[in-house]
Order: sequence, then C-alpha cells, then structure tokens
Amino acid sequence: MTQSQTERRIRELRTAIRHHNYLYHVKDRPEVSDSVYDRLFSELKELETQNPELVTADSPTQSVPGALLDQFSKIEHLAPMLSLDSDQSDEALRRFDTRVRQVLENVAYVVEPKLDGASVELVYEDGVLVRASTRGDGSVGEGITDNVRTIDAVPLRLMGRGASLPSPLSVRGEIIMRVDAFEQLNEQLMAQGKPPFANPRNAAAGALRQLDPLVTASRPLDIYVYDILSAPDLKIAKQWDALAAMAKWGLRVNDLPRRMESVDEVIEYHRDLQERRDDLEYEIDGVVVKLDDLASRDELGATSHHPKWAFAFKFPPRKEITRLLKIVPSVGRTGVVTPGGIMRPVELGGVTVSRANLHNREEVARKDIREGDLVRVQRAGDVIPQIVERVPEPGRRRAKPYQMPTRCPSCGTDLFQRGPFTVCPNQFGCPAQLAGRLEHFASKEALDIDGLGEETAKLFVAAGVVRSLPDLFDIESADLMRLEGFAAKSAESLVRAIERAAKVELHRFLYGLGIPEVGVTVAKDVSKHFGSVSRLRVATMEDLQVVAGVGPRMAEQVVAFFGDERNAQILDGLLDGKLNVMESSGSAGGVLAGTRWVFTGELKALSRREAKNLVESLGGRVTSSVSKATAYVVVGSEPGSKYDKAVDLGIATLTENEFVEFLRERGVTV
Ligand code: IVH
Repeated sequence: MTQSQTERRIRELRTAIRHHNYLYHVKDRPEVSDSVYDRLFSELKELETQNPELVTADSPTQSVPGALLDQFSKIEHLAPMLSLDSDQSDEALRRFDTRVRQVLENVAYVVEPKLDGASVELVYEDGVLVRASTRGDGSVGEGITDNVRTIDAVPLRLMGRGASLPSPLSVRGEIIMRVDAFEQLNEQLMAQGKPPFANPRNAAAGALRQLDPLVTASRPLDIYVYDILSAPDLKIAKQWDALAAMAKWGLRVNDLPRRMESVDEVIEYHRDLQERRDDLEYEIDGVVVKLDDLASRDELGATSHHPKWAFAFKFPPRKEITRLLKIVPSVGRTGVVTPGGIMRPVELGGVTVSRANLHNREEVARKDIREGDLVRVQRAGDVIPQIVERVPEPGRRRAKPYQMPTRCPSCGTDLFQRGPFTVCPNQFGCPAQLAGRLEHFASKEALDIDGLGEETAKLFVAAGVVRSLPDLFDIESADLMRLEGFAAKSAESLVRAIERAAKVELHRFLYGLGIPEVGVTVAKDVSKHFGSVSRLRVATMEDLQVVAGVGPRMAEQVVAFFGDERNAQILDGLLDGKLNVMESSGSAGGVLAGTRWVFTGELKALSRREAKNLVESLGGRVTSSVSKATAYVVVGSEPGSKYDKAVDLGIATLTENEFVEFLRERGVTV
C-alpha cells in the first residue's frame, strides 16, 4: 500500500468501527458479528502499529487503557456544573412550579429520570473527546479523561461535522453502573475477601477515581448525557432539542425523558417511574424537572446554591434504620450458607421489608453486626435489602458476636470454609440445595422445562416428589395432582415438558448441573471440546485448561464436581436411560452455523421459544431485530414491522412451512 492508500484505509476502518461501536453501545442494535468487528479492529491496530505517526487521539484503538497516573489533574469546567434544589413532596414541587409561573407564561418542562451515578463533564473539540472531569466543587473538577476513554458508551469522536457540530462542545452526563454489573462486581470483590460497594453510585464513582485506567476498564460503566453545558455557536432553544442533538451526535441519551406542561403530569410521571424503579436496569433516585425553554432560564436566575429553573423531585429514601431481631443462616443453590437478617419491618422506598442479606461470615464480622443491634438498611435496584452498617447505641448491652453454624441448617452435614464462604458439601443430597439445583436444572438456558420454577422446585422437594435429581424423570401426572396448585391439565403439561426436556444437548446439561464458575458460554465451549459426558467426566485439570477461557479455578471446580462420589451416583442415575444427552459435534457446529434469524408473527406448530432453541441448537442465532446481517426472517401469521423491514432490506423470508421444509432439506426433522 502507498502512504495515501494506508491513510485512506485507516480512515475507512475508523469510520466503520465507530459506526459499529455506536450501534452496539449506544443503540444496543449491532449489525455485525463480534468476529467481523474484531477483524476490522485488528486490521486498524496493525496499520497503526506499522505507522505510529498516523495514530490520533480519537482513533477507536485509543479507548484501551492508557498509562498509570500519579494523581488527578485539576480541570476547570467550561461552564459551572450546578447542583439542584431537591425534595420528595408533591407540595415542594408545586411551590417550585408556582414560583416559575410567577415569572413566566406558557411553561413547559422536560422531565427526566434522576440517574444515581457520578456527574461528569465531557469536552469535545472538533468532535474529538479531549477532556473529561468529575463535578468537583462545581467550578473545578478532577481530570479523569483516560478513565472515561475506557468506557465503551462514551464516543471518542462525535458524528456530524461543520456547522451541525459545535466546537468546543461541553456536555454533562451521569456515569452509572448497571445493577446487574454492580451485583456481579460485589460478588467478585467478596470472593476475593474485599469489602463490597454499598451501592451502584459508589461503585461507579470508585471506578472513575482509579489512578490505573486498567482498573476502570475492567469495571462495567455506562453513561447517559443530559445537558449541554457550553457550546458557544450552537443555536438550540429548548432542552428537548438539546437531548435530540446530543443523540444525533452519537452520545448516549436516556429514552425516558418527556416534555410536559402541567405540574400534575410531572407528579404522574414521578409516580409512574417510582413504580417502575425496580424494573429499570440502573438506579434512579427521583426525577429532574427542567424548564424546556433555555432563554427563559436566565429570566429565572439562580439562588446562591442552585438554579431556579430546575428541581429534583426525589423518591422516598430506600435507606432506613431498624432493629435486627435475629440472624438466620440459609443455604443457597451452590451450597453457600449465607447469614440473613430478620428485622423489625420497615418501609424502604414504598416497600415493606423485614429480611436483609448479610452476605457472609467476614462481612458480619467486618461490620460487627449482632442480633438486637440497630442497623441501617438499604435497597439498591431490585436487590434484596442489605444491612449497610450498625448504628451505635452507647451504653446498650449487646449480644455476643454471631457465630456461623458448623452444620448445614438444611441437611445437618458438616460445613467447610471456602475463602470467606461457608459451604455445605452435600450438593444434590441437601434439600435446600436440591430445590435450588432443580430450579437451575430446569431453567431456560439449561433443560428449559416450562412450568418448573422456584416455587414448584421447592414444592417437589418439600413434598418428597423429588428426593434425588433423577426422580424428576419418573414423575407422573397422578403424583402432581396430589400437590397443591396442580389440576389435570397443568400436571399433564408439566409431565410433557419434562419428557421433552429428557433429550438435551450436552452444553445445556452441563450448564444445568450448576457447577460453580460454569456459565452458559463456558458450558458451550467445554461441550464443543469434549463432545460427550463420558469424556467430560474423566477430564483432568490439564485437559480442561486446553479450552480457551477455562482457567485453573474453573477446571478445579469441574474436576471436583465429577470426582465427587455422590455426584457420580446422581449422574449415573440420570444417564441410565432417563436422560438422553446429545453429543456435541465438535465443529463450530450445526447446519445453521453462522446465520442470524428473526421470527415475526405467530407460529402454529412451534412456540417462539421452541423455534429459538431449535435454531440455536443448529448453530444459528436468533435476534430480535432485522438488519443487513440477518440471513432469514421467518414470517408467521399477522407479522409485525420486521416483515416490512426484511422486504425493504431484501432479506429472504420464509413462511413457517417453508422454514420446516428448509430444515428437512438439511436433514433436520421438526
Ligand atoms: S441536571 C442545573 N439532569 O443529580 C442542572 N442532573 O444535584 C443540573 N443528575 O449532581 C443537573 N440525573 O449529577 C440533571 N437528568 C439529570 C440528572 C442529574 C442525575 C444528578 C447530577 C447532579 C444531581 C443533582
């Protein structure tokens, strides 16, 4: 390649990668597979390594972590980052609205969720991210540019150019950690014996204030931007248009904001979001009400603390103080015994709670929590409430420090210690574990037995219908009809579902066994490698670690699982004619390998889930939206807009019958 060809190719690659980054991280709607993306990325990386003079700060390769810092620099914001007046009562909101209407006529507000994360300023010059800083004291914050660069959802370069993209541009947003990522991070920290974060906000703020960007990069952060702080030449008159403009530049903007004209609508929106709060993937602690018209904001001005044109209408707190009555241990699916708190009932953000998680022995000791103590409890996302800390009561006599039991509270087996965790080794023989393991075995990613969820699994174990896992496959309708909640029809359909599940692919079976550390992806890779249960059962630590992604810890768990005599008996029981575990082909697999499928409309012979399982078992992928990468769209009766999109994009469509025929031609009978 000549120099100018290289430059052109680098430009093309950057544009393509940015486009895919945007679709993946901002729109949640990728168009190419990971491997296509990886190929583009490696090609760019390679060209940049060969031509270091062509590397620019906004190249997508530069979002990988930079060097370690000694300390954070101080950065002055392009415009002050104000804070908000806040209150949880309807009356306070109405007072705010009245004050606004005393000055202005025709009031309209933009109302947004109040995201509970860390506020940041991002500065773009000529579309390139040049600075990121924390809020600090509102005028000067700490420079966290290298850390923010590692966050996938923050574009290093904006879309658009010329007059449509102001420069410099300063935007404000909130860096957040999603609740599931937060829980996972805490589990990891605790497994390493480190203290967990109290809530997703602290976890996000902690991740941003790392001197080593590598640590930030390993924490799953996300962003929503909600304000243009400064953009000298930009002609935008409304907050609503500012949100739209930021989205157009490729910044991630939340989809919950609404424009409204009356205070009653704001109250309704607040109530609605409060109800939906636990269903959101991230934490919010209220709604922010902002005057839509930007010029009118100046008319209202500010107090010494906050602007008079905006108001944070908060939710009731999810942190309260109550008394811990008792600490009781319970046994989870994997045998880990966790101490739980029984508390005097207390209302947390609209829900009455009386139980809380105390995590493990070390956490109880670290927080020095004892029965009878006054404690501060908190709910974050949809997690079970946690006891954050003890509230000291000088002079009060306290109970003795809590001791974990030495025997399993469910089956009486001697417990053992694994790091900070106390574990019951009786696996499938322990009723508490059996119920959890049964539920997991039947779960969607495992045997996928419709109708066998948590409640039913507990019922089966409690009623003695399932004393050992293989009993599951001996259940008859008559057994179920004796149980509460079952009628002839529901019993029959569950028995059918169990029968259907008795033929299962190896990776689902393996995942269903619930071996610690073995998630869906690993189960697939391991199954592909070993091909059959019999080979897997005799695999050594070394054999297992040949599989990419399997480290010593995981290998040890797998070997320990299959080496356990009690597990061996269960497996023999399952494989002795009850369960037909299909061997994996070892190749990247299946007649549909590498193809993406979309289903729309109602199918007759198959349920949606059956169709999805079928395609996946043959190596294909099922996605929810049609893109250029879709191979086929299967169209049932009354199809939705996906059908039109397929026609638009010229993607092959199949009726349900054609789909069945398509598979038959390839040797698969449905
Ligand atoms: S607007 C003057 N909008 O809430 C305008 N803030 O003090 C100030 N926050 O620290 C900010 N979500 O970090 C705004 N949609 C949103 C927000 C939001 C969360 C945070 C912000 C600020 C605090 C209020």
